Amino acid sequence: GDLESLADEIRRAGTTVALTGAGISAPSGVPTFRGDDGVWEHFDEGQFTYGRFRRDPEGFWDDRVDLQRELFGEEYEPNAGHEALAAMGRDGYLEAILTQNTDGLHGTVAEAIDDDSAENGDAVSETEAPLLLELHGNARRVRCTDCGARTDAGPVFDRAADGELPPTCDCGGIYKPDVVLFGEQLPGAVMQRARSLARESDVFLAIGSSLVVEPAASLPKIAASAGATVGVINLESTPVDDAADIVRRDDVTEALPRLRSLVEKE
Ligand code: OAD
Repeated sequence: GDLESLADEIRRAGTTVALTGAGISAPSGVPTFRGDDGVWEHFDEGQFTYGRFRRDPEGFWDDRVDLQRELFGEEYEPNAGHEALAAMGRDGYLEAILTQNTDGLHGTVAEAIDDDSAENGDAVSETEAPLLLELHGNARRVRCTDCGARTDAGPVFDRAADGELPPTCDCGGIYKPDVVLFGEQLPGAVMQRARSLARESDVFLAIGSSLVVEPAASLPKIAASAGATVGVINLESTPVDDAADIVRRDDVTEALPRLRSLVEKE
C-alpha cells in the first residue's frame, strides 16, 4: 500500500524531513485551529494579530488569556505520532521536524528520549535527535519585547488573568507570547533553515496540517519542485494532495507508528 512505498522511499533517502501541524497533537487533546471543533470557530482570528498586539496590548492580552486557556488549559502528553517521529529521528531515518505547533510536544518527546537514554547509560549525542524547528514559536514561553528575556508563560498568564494588562517584564517591557502572531514575520533564520531543509530533502512528509497558512504551506511545494518525494498524512484532503506523490488519509497515531515499523523492519 501507500505506506509501504513511503517507507521504501524513506529507507532509500539520504534526507527525510517532516512538517507537522495541529493534527499531530489532536489525539493528545490539543484543539486544532480549523474544522468543526477548531478554535477559530469560537475565537476571532482577527483579534490575535501582531498589529493588534502593537496597537492595543491590553485588549490583546485580555483576549489571549481566554485563547490560551482554550488551547493549553490542560496538561497534554505526546502521543504515538510524536513518539514515532522522534524514534525515526533517533534511528537515523528523519533529519528534521519542522512544526507549526506551539504546544512544545515534539520537544517533550526529545527530552524524554534523552532522559531515558541517560538512565540506561547510553550516550545520546545532540545529532542523533532529529532537529526540531518550532516555526511558530512556543506558547509555553513569553518573551519581553524590550530586553528579549524569555520566561515561563504560566505565571505571566496568571498575572494577566488577575488583571495585569498587559503583563510586563522586570525591565518594564511588555511581554508577548513567544509565538509568531498573524501578520508577524517568522524569524528569518528559522525560515531560511526550513526552506533549505525542504530543498535538500529526498522525502518530505506533511503531517496533520491543513497546509493553508503561509509560509509553512509552501514548504512541501519547495520540496516537490526540488525533486523530493512528497507524502501527505492527514484525515482530510489538503491543497497539496494533487502535487504529492503519496497521500495517506489516516490518523497520525495509526499511520506514523505503522510507517516507523515498515521503515525499520529487517
Ligand atoms: P489546522 O487546524 O488548520 O489543521 C489541522 C489539520 O489536521 C487538518 O487538516 C485535519 O484534517 C488534520 N487532523 C486533525 N486530526 C488529525 C489526526 N488525528 N490525524 C491526522 N490528521 C489530523 O492546523 P494547522 O495546519 O497546524 O498559526 O494550522 C496552521 C496554523 O494556523 C497554526 O500554526 C496557527 C493557525 O492559525 C499561528 O498561530 C500563526
